[in-house]
Amino acid sequence: MNIGIDRISFHTSHYYVDLKTLAEVRSVEVNKYYVGIGQEKMGIPSPDEDVVTLAASAAYPLMQAGELDEVELLLFATESGIDQSKSAGVYVHGLLEMPARCRTVELKQACYSGTAGLQLAIAFVARNPGKKALVIASDIARYELGSPGEATQGCGSVAMLVSANPRLLAIEPESGYVTEDVMDFWRPNYRSEAFVDGKYSTMVYIHTLVESWKQYAELTGRLLSDFDRFCYHIPFTKMAEKAHQKLCRKFKVEADNATMYTLLDESLRYSRVTGNCYSGSMYVGLASLLETAAEDLSGKRVGFYSYGSGCVGEFFSGVVQPGYGDFLFADQHRNLLENRTELTYQQYEDIFNYGVPTDGGEYVFPQYKTGPFRFSGISQHKREYESLV
Ligand code: CAA
Repeated sequence: MNIGIDRISFHTSHYYVDLKTLAEVRSVEVNKYYVGIGQEKMGIPSPDEDVVTLAASAAYPLMQAGELDEVELLLFATESGIDQSKSAGVYVHGLLEMPARCRTVELKQACYSGTAGLQLAIAFVARNPGKKALVIASDIARYELGSPGEATQGCGSVAMLVSANPRLLAIEPESGYVTEDVMDFWRPNYRSEAFVDGKYSTMVYIHTLVESWKQYAELTGRLLSDFDRFCYHIPFTKMAEKAHQKLCRKFKVEADNATMYTLLDESLRYSRVTGNCYSGSMYVGLASLLETAAEDLSGKRVGFYSYGSGCVGEFFSGVVQPGYGDFLFADQHRNLLENRTELTYQQYEDIFNYGVPTDGGEYVFPQYKTGPFRFSGISQHKREYESLV
């Protein structure tokens, strides 16, 4: 029985900063961002948006299509959770009016947790073949103003329905995976911005890729040339390109850079204009690949490398299913990305520094433009959400 991703839908904020604006203020040559790190825009969430509203908005098209009725497991992956106790998934479950018979839990391991969610969901479906699981990976990537990571900020959420006989992508059973206790990127509970040892993090990302790939290759006997496309975790698009180049060189794939990058290019298009979505970013890459590739990808094998700082890495694969094109949300996603509002530098800094009171008292947000749901305020230490549909 094939098990895998049956539908995929994503959402990002309505607001963005073009990195040429940031480059000007930070006195940096713009091509350091556009070319050197490979990013053009970064999605900036408005004050009344958080990982819950991004997630509910991502999953909303699935609700509208009646796809959530058989879901009995909701796994919510995030690095930017909003409560130490209650799962962000429970808020989403409520906003989407999902069936009460449902297990809901939040998962954490930096940017890797979306993949943990996907693999756990597959195990659940293997045991309950008639049932479905909803995996949501939702994050806001936030670094200090003026820090090297600033230009790699972004936000977004991906909702994936996992089922037997999936209409988009069958996930293959073999995986290579590695855990190593390192401090390349972390965020203590008292901080709203991550600490990061930037250069070290890029080295660990590649080291873990090589180790995961070695395991996968040994288990399957496959070579890198057996893949038609690749999707990598995308903290910034240049990271994925460099890592792929290093992997190919190490395992002696004879190809020039341009040829290697054609196997990645479609998967990087959305991330280049949304920025990092941490746990969701590789899956934004998958949506980008399926929705923007000119070629029919039916039957093509895709290699995935998921990485979460701290760190856990996993290499696995999937095969695109015939007829997948009829089950995408490509038009909605194109619309979403084309109709955002550009922020000035000052607007960006004002939103970045927006001070929500932390004493849990009464607070009502002014209304910004969001998806179908918004974070409307706080009352008696409880977050309040509003449905706009
Ligand atoms: N034109 C073209 N290219 C230019 C340029 C110009 N005018 N000016 C500079 N560049 C190039 C540089 O040569 C460099 O290229 P190489 O990497 O090929 O040498 C590239 O632009 C970046 O320049 P720097 O190395 O000087 O950049 P930096 O040190 O200021 O920042 C970074 C890079 C450390 C990765 C920083 O973006 C960062 O800290 N990011 C956050 C951490 C991160 O994303 N790590 C990735 C792995 S960890 C992970 O994946 C988990 C996660 O999601 C966070």
